[in-house]
This record gives sequence, structure tokens and C-alpha cells, in this order.
Amino acid sequence: MSYCSGFFSSMECTKKSLFLVFTISFTAIYLISYFYTSDYLAALLKSDDLHMGSEKSLLKKTLTNFKQVSGKENGEAPPENGKSVNEATHTPAQSFTFLINEEEKCRDRTPFLVLLISTTAAELQRRDAIRRSWGSEAAVPGVDILRLFMLGINTRGINEDVLLRESEQYHDIIQQDFLDTYNNLTLKTLMGMRWVASYCSGTRFAMKTDSDVFVNTMHLVEKLLRPLPPSTQNYFTGHLMKGHTPIRNKASKWYISEEEFPGNRYHTFCSGTGYVFSGDLAAKIVNASLTIKYIHLEDVYVGFCLNAKGVEIVPVPYSLFNLHKVPFSPCTYNKIITSHHIQPHEHIHYWETLQEKKHTC
Ligand SMILES: *[C@@H]1O[C@H](CO)[C@@H](O)[C@H](O)[C@H]1NC(C)=O
Ligand SMILES: *[C@@H]1O[C@H](CO)[C@@H](O)[C@H](O)[C@H]1NC(C)=O
Repeated sequence: MSYCSGFFSSMECTKKSLFLVFTISFTAIYLISYFYTSDYLAALLKSDDLHMGSEKSLLKKTLTNFKQVSGKENGEAPPENGKSVNEATHTPAQSFTFLINEEEKCRDRTPFLVLLISTTAAELQRRDAIRRSWGSEAAVPGVDILRLFMLGINTRGINEDVLLRESEQYHDIIQQDFLDTYNNLTLKTLMGMRWVASYCSGTRFAMKTDSDVFVNTMHLVEKLLRPLPPSTQNYFTGHLMKGHTPIRNKASKWYISEEEFPGNRYHTFCSGTGYVFSGDLAAKIVNASLTIKYIHLEDVYVGFCLNAKGVEIVPVPYSLFNLHKVPFSPCTYNKIITSHHIQPHEHIHYWETLQEKKHTC
């Protein structure tokens, strides 16, 4: 106190004191926020793993995400993902880590059908509409349906916390640490396959679809899957795409460069808007992906995997899986499985009208 005898007695002294107070406060705030976001959470989680309630698992997820994001920002490779992009493109199924997972979802049940729905963080409205309509786990009475939305990481303006809360509420989200982009859709599909293979290999069937596709789950089960198809192994079907060749026109949505795919023919595949397969195929597709070079067209890629495993796609009537938007009427939708380019409110409207009116057809 010697440098300032008689507090606030002079201007000089006031300045010095204020400076000190500001410096100390600033340092304290910095330290508190640092410990709070990182080490504090880590310590909290380590302290008691046995009684991990939902709040804690939320914290754990937040921490994982925090580490991932800060690793990325510092230009470091995040833990468990030290592979270069080049390696990653050759073994996509092995290179990514689940940020949000539902390891327990299938533990005490053997679903009849797992729905794997490709979506992005921003599509909350679509997810809600699907939850309340054809994607409800109670959509088909007496049939155990398990629903999962598949996401990558969105870097632009999306609040991960919001997604974590949604996941805590519905337990129907899986997410891996690849960027959620159009060219990474194959990674998203492989994540779904890997989930089924690792955590739900007993499921009878699975279906991969998109959030802008209406799926008449009732008709899917009744028309295609019950009674069971002749073989419940190596079963794969959807809208057959046969004899397609790579599109080299850069303006096309399905453009693929010679560099990415030098061949001049695709194997037969099913449109990614909706394909259905027996549970055993998930592991086979993951296995095939270890050796098949990555291409970004996920449905074409799955076709290559099926070919590698010698799986023949089962043809079904073309009217069932539609690539376009089928004009809505209950008696039409009663007889189809998929219709494309569906808005969130339409998911609900179509499904509700279908339940009300289909008996009159
Ligand atoms: C796919 O995701 C990986 C991993 O996040 C990223 O490095 C890569 O740039 C993404 N690819 C595209 C084409 O967006
Ligand atoms: C993939 O399948 C091959 C041939 O069927 C088998 O030898 C190999 O062990 C499988 N790999 C994995 C990782 O399951």
C-alpha cells in the first residue's frame, strides 16, 4: 500500500487502482470460463461414471464436441481420427467417430425394421414431421420399427447444443465427425450401415431414405415384407437403376469426374430416395466399403458394394418406389411405398389423411 498512501486521495492513485481491478477481473473471468468449458466438465465426468444420468451423458457429449471443435480450430487432427483425408477416402467406414450415438437403442429388442433417414441439422421441422407421421415407431401396429436420423457435422451457424437437446429428447439421432456436405452423403449412408452392423445386427430389415421422401411404412411392411420375402438374407430392393453410366456434365446434380470414377458403367443400384434391405447386408456393405474406392454418389456406391458381395437386387413393381412426387390422394398413396420432394407439413397431412381414408378405397 505504500505506493498509494491514502486511497483515492489523488487522480493518479485512482487510475492505478482501477487498472489493477480491471486486470484482476479480466484474468479471473478468463480462467473461470476456461475451466468451466474444459477441465471442469472433464473432472465432473470422471468423478462418477457409474451413475451417469441423462444430464451427464449430455455433458459428456458436449465435452466430446467441444474437444472435436477446438481440435479442428487449432488445425490439429481430433483424437481417434488422425488419418489424412486421402486415407479417409479409401476407408471411409473406419475413419469417423460417433459424436452422437444410440448404442443402447436396440439392446433389448429385435426390430423388424430400422429406418435410417438422411438429414442435416437445420432440418428440424422435417424430422419433427417424420416423427409424427410415417416415421413414428408406432406407425405400424404390432411391428417393431426403430427410427434413426443420420447427420454429419454442420459448421455454419448451427448450434450443436440444440441438436444435443433434440437427441436427449428423442434418442433418434446418430452423428459422426465428417462434414455434412453433399459429397459426403456416402459417408452418411455408411455410418447408418455401420450402426446397424454394430448395434442392431439382429434387425430383420432396414431402409435408407431421405427427409424429403414420404414413406408409406404401412404398405412397405404389408406389401413387401410380410409375409417374409422368400429369402430374408441378401435381400435388397428399391427403385432399380439399371445400365446407368457416369454423367460427365458438370451442370448435373449427378456429375462425377473421371478422376473420381474412371469407369464407364455403374453396376445396378437402387435410388437413394429409398431402398430396403435385410439386416445381414449392413455388415456386408460395410465390409465391402473397406476395399471399394469411395465415390460420393451413395446409392451408386452401395450398388458397387452389393456387386462385390455377389448380392442380386430383387426387382419389385416400379410403381412402389417413386423418384418423383406422386400427386396426393389417399387411394394412390395407399398403394405406393415412396414419393419424393415432400414438404414437412405434407408428411403429416398425407399420413393423417391416409389413416383416415384408406379404408374407403
Ligand atoms: C467430408 O468430410 C471430411 C471429414 O470431415 C472432410 O475433410 C471433407 O472435406 C468432406 N468432403 C467434402 C467433399 O465435403
Ligand atoms: C470382410 O470380408 C472378407 C471376405 O468375406 C473377410 O475375409 C474379412 O475378414 C472381412 N473383414 C472384416 C473387417 O470383417
